[in-house]
Amino acid sequence: MRVLVLNGSPKKQSDTFRLTERFLKGLNKDGNHEIHVIRVIEKQISPCRGCFRCWSNMDGHCVIRDDQNEILDLYRNADLVIWSFPLYCYAMPSHLKAVLDRTIPLVKMKMVQEDDGTVHHEALADFSKLHTLVICGCGFPDWEGNFDGLKAMCNVCFCGPDMVCVPETPLLNIPAAAAVAEPLLEKFEKAGEEYAVSLKLSPETIAGLEAPMIPKEDYIRGVNGE
Ligand SMILES: Cc1cc2nc3c(=O)[nH]c(=O)nc-3n(C[C@H](O)[C@H](O)[C@H](O)COP(=O)(O)O)c2cc1C
Repeated sequence: MRVLVLNGSPKKQSDTFRLTERFLKGLNKDGNHEIHVIRVIEKQISPCRGCFRCWSNMDGHCVIRDDQNEILDLYRNADLVIWSFPLYCYAMPSHLKAVLDRTIPLVKMKMVQEDDGTVHHEALADFSKLHTLVICGCGFPDWEGNFDGLKAMCNVCFCGPDMVCVPETPLLNIPAAAAVAEPLLEKFEKAGEEYAVSLKLSPETIAGLEAPMIPKEDYIRGVNGE
């Protein structure tokens, strides 16, 4: 499988990418997969200009000459795209959102209406076999609604991807929290193994990955230095 990983954390020691790395370790246990990791912050990706020249050219590329066309080529050839990023203001970080906006050369202007009334643009290539996995970390403890905006966007943009939204991820880079972080990292590795076999994650597995490492009240007390 060709796997494209878009690491959207601007940090070298990303809390979220620690989870993704362990997932990849499990996924590629047998060494059968070709994994290409891109640290998006190191790439030059300008915002979309909204010129729609990609829709006249229909060559799967953007007219802006920066690093996005390399990403578009990898995206088009991938079997699995993993979006790994921290939650920023209930959404993805802006430099990664620029990558997402500029995937528009991969669709045509032509609109398609589905039986359920939803409307989307026809794809330029056959993406029906493309799998998408979203791994998002965040600084808040578990509370209903924190990931709602992100989930709504990802569901429409990626046609119902597998999504893992993890609370309390700063604990992953705190040495004193290793006793609670390591079991979660192990679960991510196991989830990678599961994904390699079934190309999806069961609801039970996702629930295990999203379970808070420590109770909400303890986490808040710790953050507040109480
Ligand atoms: C600009 C900014 C916005 C953030 N917004 C949110 C947010 O909306 N919800 C949340 O739970 N955490 C938020 N966080 C916290 C990060 O998601 C959290 O620190 C995460 O663990 C960082 O992951 P990383 O190390 O992979 O970059 C925000 C952090 C920053 C810097």
